[in-house]
Amino acid sequence: MDYKEATNKIKEILDSQDENKIQTVVDFLQSQFQTYSWVGIYIVKNDVLHLGPWNGPHATEHTKIPIGHGICGSAAKTGKTENIAEVCADERYLSCFISTRSEIVVPIIYKESIIGEIDIDSDQPNAFNHSDEHFLKEIADMLAKHIHNM
Ligand code: SME
Repeated sequence: MDYKEATNKIKEILDSQDENKIQTVVDFLQSQFQTYSWVGIYIVKNDVLHLGPWNGPHATEHTKIPIGHGICGSAAKTGKTENIAEVCADERYLSCFISTRSEIVVPIIYKESIIGEIDIDSDQPNAFNHSDEHFLKEIADMLAKHIHNM
Protein backbone atom coordinates (compact mmCIF):
# COMPACT_ATOMS: atom_id res chain seq x y z
CA MET A 1 0.00 0.00 0.00
CA ASP A 2 1.32 3.47 -0.77
CA TYR A 3 1.57 6.21 1.83
CA LYS A 4 -1.18 8.37 0.36
CA GLU A 5 -3.65 5.51 0.27
CA ALA A 6 -2.71 4.58 3.84
CA THR A 7 -3.13 8.18 5.03
CA ASN A 8 -6.61 8.30 3.52
CA LYS A 9 -7.55 4.98 5.06
CA ILE A 10 -6.37 6.16 8.50
CA LYS A 11 -8.34 9.40 8.07
CA GLU A 12 -11.41 7.25 7.41
CA ILE A 13 -10.79 5.18 10.56
CA LEU A 14 -10.39 8.31 12.69
CA ASP A 15 -13.58 9.87 11.26
CA SER A 16 -15.58 6.68 11.89
CA GLN A 17 -17.67 5.67 14.91
CA ASP A 18 -15.15 2.93 15.78
CA GLU A 19 -14.82 2.91 19.58
CA ASN A 20 -11.25 1.61 19.40
CA LYS A 21 -9.99 3.90 16.64
CA ILE A 22 -6.43 4.14 17.89
CA GLN A 23 -6.10 0.35 18.16
CA THR A 24 -7.56 0.02 14.66
CA VAL A 25 -4.98 2.47 13.30
CA VAL A 26 -2.16 0.54 15.02
CA ASP A 27 -3.49 -2.78 13.65
CA PHE A 28 -3.71 -1.23 10.18
CA LEU A 29 -0.11 0.06 10.21
CA GLN A 30 1.27 -3.23 11.52
CA SER A 31 -0.60 -5.33 8.96
CA GLN A 32 -0.15 -3.13 5.85
CA PHE A 33 3.55 -2.30 6.04
CA GLN A 34 5.77 -5.34 5.87
CA THR A 35 8.74 -3.73 7.59
CA TYR A 36 6.63 -2.43 10.52
CA SER A 37 7.16 -5.52 12.71
CA TRP A 38 5.85 -4.07 15.97
CA VAL A 39 3.74 -0.90 16.25
CA GLY A 40 2.78 0.80 19.51
CA ILE A 41 1.50 4.09 20.85
CA TYR A 42 2.90 5.48 24.09
CA ILE A 43 0.96 8.13 26.01
CA VAL A 44 2.67 10.70 28.29
CA LYS A 45 1.28 10.83 31.84
CA ASN A 46 3.19 12.53 34.66
CA ASP A 47 6.55 12.49 32.84
CA VAL A 48 6.28 8.77 32.07
CA LEU A 49 5.44 7.11 28.75
CA HIS A 50 2.69 4.51 29.18
CA LEU A 51 2.16 1.89 26.51
CA GLY A 52 -1.30 2.13 24.93
CA PRO A 53 -2.56 0.21 21.88
CA TRP A 54 0.05 -1.99 20.21
CA ASN A 55 0.26 -4.84 17.71
CA GLY A 56 3.07 -7.25 16.96
CA PRO A 57 4.20 -10.80 17.53
CA HIS A 58 5.21 -10.23 21.17
CA ALA A 59 4.34 -8.05 24.16
CA THR A 60 7.07 -5.72 25.43
CA GLU A 61 8.18 -5.53 29.04
CA HIS A 62 8.75 -1.78 28.54
CA THR A 63 5.18 -0.68 29.24
CA LYS A 64 6.35 2.37 31.21
CA ILE A 65 9.37 4.44 30.15
CA PRO A 66 10.46 7.60 31.98
CA ILE A 67 10.91 10.67 29.75
CA GLY A 68 14.59 10.87 28.82
CA HIS A 69 15.17 7.09 28.89
CA GLY A 70 15.76 4.99 25.80
CA ILE A 71 15.00 6.09 22.26
CA CYS A 72 11.33 6.50 23.17
CA GLY A 73 12.13 8.71 26.13
CA SER A 74 14.56 10.82 24.05
CA ALA A 75 11.94 11.56 21.40
CA ALA A 76 9.42 12.42 24.13
CA LYS A 77 11.92 14.83 25.66
CA THR A 78 12.95 16.66 22.49
CA GLY A 79 9.77 16.37 20.42
CA LYS A 80 11.93 15.27 17.47
CA THR A 81 11.60 12.08 15.44
CA GLU A 82 14.23 9.43 16.16
CA ASN A 83 15.06 7.23 13.17
CA ILE A 84 17.59 4.60 14.25
CA ALA A 85 19.04 2.55 11.38
CA GLU A 86 20.85 0.03 13.64
CA VAL A 87 19.53 -0.17 17.19
CA CYS A 88 22.56 -2.05 18.49
CA ALA A 89 24.75 0.96 17.60
CA ASP A 90 22.71 3.34 19.77
CA GLU A 91 23.65 3.24 23.44
CA ARG A 92 20.29 4.70 24.49
CA TYR A 93 18.42 1.72 23.04
CA LEU A 94 16.21 -0.26 25.43
CA SER A 95 15.85 -3.72 23.97
CA CYS A 96 12.36 -5.18 23.69
CA PHE A 97 12.68 -7.92 21.08
CA ILE A 98 15.82 -9.77 20.02
CA SER A 99 14.69 -9.61 16.39
CA THR A 100 14.59 -5.78 16.25
CA ARG A 101 17.21 -4.16 13.99
CA SER A 102 15.88 -0.63 13.45
CA GLU A 103 13.36 1.65 15.13
CA ILE A 104 11.47 4.88 14.49
CA VAL A 105 9.81 7.02 17.15
CA VAL A 106 7.57 9.93 16.09
CA PRO A 107 6.26 12.30 18.78
CA ILE A 108 2.54 13.12 18.92
CA ILE A 109 2.20 16.82 19.64
CA TYR A 110 -1.02 18.63 20.60
CA LYS A 111 -0.95 22.42 20.92
CA GLU A 112 2.84 22.36 21.41
CA SER A 113 2.73 19.69 24.16
CA ILE A 114 4.24 16.27 23.60
CA ILE A 115 1.34 13.99 24.56
CA GLY A 116 2.56 10.68 23.16
CA GLU A 117 4.43 8.97 20.35
CA ILE A 118 4.26 6.31 17.67
CA ASP A 119 6.96 3.67 18.16
CA ILE A 120 7.76 1.17 15.40
CA ASP A 121 10.33 -1.62 15.59
CA SER A 122 11.51 -3.38 12.44
CA ASP A 123 13.22 -6.73 12.07
CA GLN A 124 15.07 -5.22 9.08
CA PRO A 125 18.05 -2.90 9.44
CA ASN A 126 17.59 0.67 8.16
CA ALA A 127 13.89 0.03 7.53
CA PHE A 128 12.67 3.64 7.70
CA ASN A 129 13.34 6.35 5.12
CA HIS A 130 12.27 10.00 4.77
CA SER A 131 8.94 8.92 3.30
CA ASP A 132 8.20 6.86 6.43
CA GLU A 133 9.19 9.84 8.60
CA HIS A 134 6.91 12.16 6.65
CA PHE A 135 4.03 9.67 6.54
CA LEU A 136 4.22 8.85 10.26
CA LYS A 137 4.44 12.55 11.18
CA GLU A 138 1.21 13.10 9.29
CA ILE A 139 -0.41 10.18 11.14
CA ALA A 140 0.90 11.52 14.48
CA ASP A 141 -0.68 14.91 13.71
CA MET A 142 -3.97 13.20 12.86
CA LEU A 143 -3.86 11.12 16.06
CA ALA A 144 -3.06 14.09 18.32
CA LYS A 145 -6.62 15.40 18.69
CA HIS A 146 -8.00 11.90 19.37
CA ILE A 147 -5.34 11.02 21.92
CA HIS A 148 -5.81 14.36 23.66
CA ASN A 149 -9.52 13.53 24.06
CA MET A 150 -8.88 10.01 25.39
N1 SME B 1 13.29 0.38 22.11
C1 SME B 1 12.58 1.39 22.84
C2 SME B 1 11.74 0.81 23.93
C3 SME B 1 10.36 0.44 23.50
S1 SME B 1 10.27 -1.01 22.60
O1 SME B 1 10.97 -0.84 21.31
C4 SME B 1 8.68 -1.42 22.26
C5 SME B 1 13.56 2.43 23.38
O2 SME B 1 14.77 2.30 23.23
O3 SME B 1 13.11 3.39 24.01
